[in-house]
Amino acid sequence: MPENVLDVHDLDVRFATEAGTIHAVRDVSFSLTRGEVLALVGESGSGKSATAMSLTALNRAAGNTRVTGSVRLHGRELMTLSERELRDVRGAQVAMVFQDPMTSLNPVRRVGDLIAEVIRAHDPVPRRAAARRAVELLHEVGIAEPGRRAELFPHQLSGGMRQRVLIAMALALRPAVLVADEPTTALDVTIQAQILRLIRVLRAEHGTSVLLITHDLGVVAGLADRVAVMYAGRIVETAPTSAILASPRHPYTAGLLESIPRIDHPRSARLPSIAGQPPTLQDDDPGCSFAPRCRSAHEACARRPVLSDGIACHLPGGRR
Ligand SMILES: Nc1ncnc2c1ncn2[C@@H]1O[C@H](COP(=O)(O)OP(=O)(O)O)[C@@H](O)[C@H]1O
Ligand SMILES: [Mg+2]
Repeated sequence: MPENVLDVHDLDVRFATEAGTIHAVRDVSFSLTRGEVLALVGESGSGKSATAMSLTALNRAAGNTRVTGSVRLHGRELMTLSERELRDVRGAQVAMVFQDPMTSLNPVRRVGDLIAEVIRAHDPVPRRAAARRAVELLHEVGIAEPGRRAELFPHQLSGGMRQRVLIAMALALRPAVLVADEPTTALDVTIQAQILRLIRVLRAEHGTSVLLITHDLGVVAGLADRVAVMYAGRIVETAPTSAILASPRHPYTAGLLESIPRIDHPRSARLPSIAGQPPTLQDDDPGCSFAPRCRSAHEACARRPVLSDGIACHLPGGRR
């Protein structure tokens, strides 16, 4: 049994809103071994980002958020750490790449300095050498004129460039865990490929484990070892990537895979999408959350299926 780098157990996230409590993440458990890439997939609003943010309590500062459960990094519980202790974890062990990187970059520091700082936190190299390495990293993540860009402040860069600055910082960090929330969504295809290559390098050279949130099946197929499918705040299926792509067992996974465009399918074919809407996360009905949209729902689905043997579904063997 390989030792787990990250262990998430019964993670639960609730947001208090004017319209009531939104129960965004429900009993989510998963783990990452060294160098493992786990893809978290699911429709918009299924709780993927809320899960990612909770890993290092990034949403703790917001007064309306309540997170419970356990997140252990190399066996150390993160949920009970102080904000100061968490800053060290975020700065040295867990790198986060989000879609809107403005919030995670210090706005009053030049991007070259931000990266150099991360380098020097790791290696006691002279300032000048760290600055040179920062420029190299900007080049590696596909930023043109990296020497000039290093002198700029985050707000002077485009969103896509800021995202690549975060990735450059993640590379400098050599983190135990990289959490990447739709890291390539806003980028063009060439840069996407470059970023994915860098994630592969990080994993190969430093054994970094990756939680990868993505809508892109190509990215899942090319990078992930394992997939966890989220629906209405819960993981409903988890399996090795090749198995889940070839033969999804949960009806929701099957629908999700059918609804995603694939280059190996003719473009003219109309893409099926899953009929119906995901439930509002206010209700906590006692049954299977997917049952109202499920073609195979039957009486047993009035009881909530538990995740067992990688699937939360009452159908024998899942899909029918
Ligand atoms: N800070 C917040 N306050 C209130 N509701 C939120 C907040 N963040 C997320 N939510 C809600 O929680 C649910 C899950 O959101 P999110 O984790 O962002 O989904 P995903 O990343 O899968 O698209 C959504 O219904 C979203 O509107
Ligand atoms: Mg999201």
